[in-house]
Amino acid sequence: MTGFKELVFSGVQPTGNLHLGNYLGAIKRFVALQERYDCIYCVVDMHAITAELYQPELKNQIREVTAAFIAAGIDPAKHIIFNQSQVSAHAELAWIFNCVARLGWMNRMTQFKEKAGRDRENASLGLYAYPSLMAADILVYRATHVPVGEDQKQHLELTRDIAQKFNNDFAAPIAERGFGEGFFPLTEPLIGGPAARVMSLRDGSKKMSKSDPSDLSRINLIDDRDAIAQKIRKAKTDPDALPTEEAGLANRPEAENLVGIYAGLSGRTKAEVLAQYGNAQFSAFKAALVDLSVETLGPIGAEMKRLKDDHAYIDGVLAEGSARARVIADETMTAVRDIVGFLRG
Ligand code: TYM
Repeated sequence: MTGFKELVFSGVQPTGNLHLGNYLGAIKRFVALQERYDCIYCVVDMHAITAELYQPELKNQIREVTAAFIAAGIDPAKHIIFNQSQVSAHAELAWIFNCVARLGWMNRMTQFKEKAGRDRENASLGLYAYPSLMAADILVYRATHVPVGEDQKQHLELTRDIAQKFNNDFAAPIAERGFGEGFFPLTEPLIGGPAARVMSLRDGSKKMSKSDPSDLSRINLIDDRDAIAQKIRKAKTDPDALPTEEAGLANRPEAENLVGIYAGLSGRTKAEVLAQYGNAQFSAFKAALVDLSVETLGPIGAEMKRLKDDHAYIDGVLAEGSARARVIADETMTAVRDIVGFLRG
């Protein structure tokens, strides 16, 4: 879609245990995009209370994600890093989107079904409406590109549906105000690379996740070198040597996952990794993966630990990022209220 200023937006929930999947699927890619685009990276604290309402450590979890962004290499002076709850326009636009989105659309959201589990009657209304808030996060900046892991694909499709319906339903006031192509862009998801879906180290059929009860299932960004090494050594594998071609990874989910992690960390493709390690036994490949992981993740984890305890610095970054975000969001909301027909004296 042309006519919109190119802008990247993405968010990460401060729900504890930031892990390698968050890093390879999202944060590492955020860092790369800042060379080409203006970027807004958000710690989505309002999303964090949808599943678990009271989290005594929430403030520190927000600081930890902020520290991860900075430690990974995002420059808060050039780009915007902030936490969602400091910009109330997200909640305001989400309400309007609750009136745009259809129940039928929301009922198809697989992540809600997974997170609500069997006891759906007891899930919060916030968990159900979550994707509508996510659409508001993106569209309140009229962002054009959103880097995320594979698991967020459906939410981004919903974001496009919401933008499209808003543009259609309000086509007349939008055209009158000179927004020729529609008011909201149809956001492009940026999903890809060899680690768009990092799997559990204990079970290659399950996604690596913050909430897996087994800490051995994930590498946390805050893990020290011993923990990283131990988790990789204990990672589930199969008995065969690595294949020489990517096709040989079919039906070998654990092998595919470790090769994908190696590729993601080293900035190579799976095919390139296999060109080097094809025919290697897992013992040798795991040793190489331990070295690579410790070398790349070690410094990030150490810097994260240092930064997250510097409350004055982190809180300052978030306050300043929020002020900059608010300017853009408020401009959108002024136009949205007018398009919808709300009266302001
Ligand atoms: P969250 O906090 O669960 O995850 C943050 C980012 O990490 C990615 N990710 C993974 N990528 C690869 N492999 C994995 N195992 C893995 N696990 C997580 C996620 O895809 C995500 O990119 N709904 C979002 C947060 C959000 C958001 C937004 C994102 C709220 N508003 C607006 C983009 C734009 C979420 O829960 O991410």
